[in-house]
Amino acid sequence: MSLELWTTVDRYIEGLQIPSDAVLDAAIATSAAAGLPEIAVTPSQGKLLYLLAKMQEARRILEIGTLGGYSTIWMARALAAKGRLVTLEAEKNHAAVARKNIARAGLSEVVDLRLGRALRTLPKLAEEGGAPFDFVFIDADKENTAEYFAWALRMSRPGTAIVVDNVIREGEVANGGTTDASVQGIRRFNEALAIEARVSATTIQTVGSKGYDGFTLALVLS
Ligand code: SAH
Ligand code: DHB
Ligand code: MG
Repeated sequence: MSLELWTTVDRYIEGLQIPSDAVLDAAIATSAAAGLPEIAVTPSQGKLLYLLAKMQEARRILEIGTLGGYSTIWMARALAAKGRLVTLEAEKNHAAVARKNIARAGLSEVVDLRLGRALRTLPKLAEEGGAPFDFVFIDADKENTAEYFAWALRMSRPGTAIVVDNVIREGEVANGGTTDASVQGIRRFNEALAIEARVSATTIQTVGSKGYDGFTLALVLS
């Protein structure tokens, strides 16, 4: 079992289930050309986010960690009529690339990209007192995942779905002695999640062209 095989299978599945899409391809290409890290979700993962948001009939989506807007475009395309997506990004350069990609996708009117560290922009967003989010995707700095989850919960309603990316990290998440601050952040999130009575959650390990990782899906119950 190897990254090469996982990538071959990802490409096979993409060929069957994900029509080639000039806008999404451009989002990846322009991100790479601008020197952004190549860590966007894969096409199949983007499609999963799209399907989950559709299942939620989401009108309000929150994303933490925009990068070049690839996952943003997938989710924004799932928005119900009059829906809006708020996406939070700390890096000016990433946000600039994302804005262009979102514009190319014709989604500038529905995507509200906010520049700044999420621990600063989230309290502001919460203070605005908008309607709760229907769907949340947490995919920024892993160190603060537990905090992001707590903010997501504050802006949720019963029925909100929260997806957290990169929670397995090649299995390192199960290593209690890890010195990796990102993995420690995920472990702290897992501990908070375990004692959070308001949600029901599961974590799925994944392999694919991005290697061995996984995601958590949490459903807000009350
Ligand atoms: N969701 C994107 C990938 C996000 S990569 C996709 O799948 O297409 C993680 C992003 O989080 C990077 O762009 C990084 O700059 C951003 N980030 C890191 N720390 C952050 C913080 N404190 N606040 C907001 N964004 C942050
Ligand atoms: C990294 C971040 C991500 O959001 C991701 O999906 C993969 C890798 C990283 O920081 O290495
Ligand atoms: Mg990620």
